[in-house]
Amino acid sequence: MILIVGGAGYIGAHVNKELSRQGYETIVFDNLSFGHADFVKWGVFEEGDLNNIDDIRGVFKKYPIDAVMHFAAFTYVGESVDDPQKYYLNNLGNTLNLLRVMLEEGVKYFVFSSTCATYGTPEEIPITENHPQKPISPYGKGKFMVEQILEDYSRAYNLEYVSLRYFNAAGADPEAEIGELHVPETHLIPLTLDAAADKRKHIKIFGTDYPTADGTCIRDYIHVQDLADAHIKALHYLQKGGSSDVFNLGNGQGFSVREVIESARKVTGKDIMVEEVDRRPGDPPVLVGSSDKARDILNWQPKYHELSTIIETAWKWHQKRD
Ligand SMILES: NC(=O)c1ccc[n+]([C@@H]2O[C@H](COP(=O)([O-])OP(=O)(O)OC[C@H]3O[C@@H](n4cnc5c(N)ncnc54)[C@H](O)[C@@H]3O)[C@@H](O)[C@H]2O)c1
Repeated sequence: MILIVGGAGYIGAHVNKELSRQGYETIVFDNLSFGHADFVKWGVFEEGDLNNIDDIRGVFKKYPIDAVMHFAAFTYVGESVDDPQKYYLNNLGNTLNLLRVMLEEGVKYFVFSSTCATYGTPEEIPITENHPQKPISPYGKGKFMVEQILEDYSRAYNLEYVSLRYFNAAGADPEAEIGELHVPETHLIPLTLDAAADKRKHIKIFGTDYPTADGTCIRDYIHVQDLADAHIKALHYLQKGGSSDVFNLGNGQGFSVREVIESARKVTGKDIMVEEVDRRPGDPPVLVGSSDKARDILNWQPKYHELSTIIETAWKWHQKRD
């Protein structure tokens, strides 16, 4: 069975659906601090907290677990700057609890949700896995530390892992059974769709004087269904004896904030009001990843790479969830 830690959240729920569709038996472990019980539509649900090692041990004793996929974390970069302890305790300390129980129980395969935030401010675009890792927030640093700890654990213990460094996860289940729902929401596409649905007055553009073609920031949006596919390919890779490794997961194309809003106007047919405000500190002008390594080694190919398709799936879910 596959244990999906944080599987009631956005990305974990999509991976759970895809694993189940492909015939895997799954267990979702989540404390519902940010997840949604109604996203756990597949497999079994065990409510528990990674902060409580007995909760984790209980699940490992109850089920025959073959592999662990670890999505659970706090995810607000700005908050991690204001309250680093909160982030290090959950994203780093609680990950060590999980790894501790895996080692006790001899569970060997681990797929970890890392992030492009481990690179910090890019020195070159596109960002490959060999780009220096100089994270600038406690969120990014905590993820980077877990990556380094995994290297040590893999060397010392019988643990094989894949760290997947996602760029901006976006879109929703094409069947709209689940989708993106963070509370509070900080991501551009759901906020833009809120503006399209009149749930907010306008969408803010932070900075229009960046050195990009239209002056707004460029990001790499990777569809959540493509992320789900990559997780299963990473699991196959490990199960077939692949050695521990790290992979970027991005679309390979960048879209500016204005392009996203324009595409959302077309997809929704709604007028979306914008408010242009100052830049936010720490936002690099361009973040675009190279996923050639995942394509070559995991044989992974993003299918939902068109911006309009990403927004269409998000909009379908957005309309349904009300
Ligand atoms: N969304 C993105 O664009 C993105 C980009 C890069 C990396 N990531 C990483 O991917 C992972 C999933 O992101 P998401 O957007 O699905 O976030 P999410 O908040 O929707 O999901 C995280 C889940 O973990 C659970 N959780 C948190 N702490 C827990 C704990 N102590 N015990 C048990 N459950 C706990 C939450 O309840 C939630 O269901 C995170 O690790 C995040 O850092 C996300």
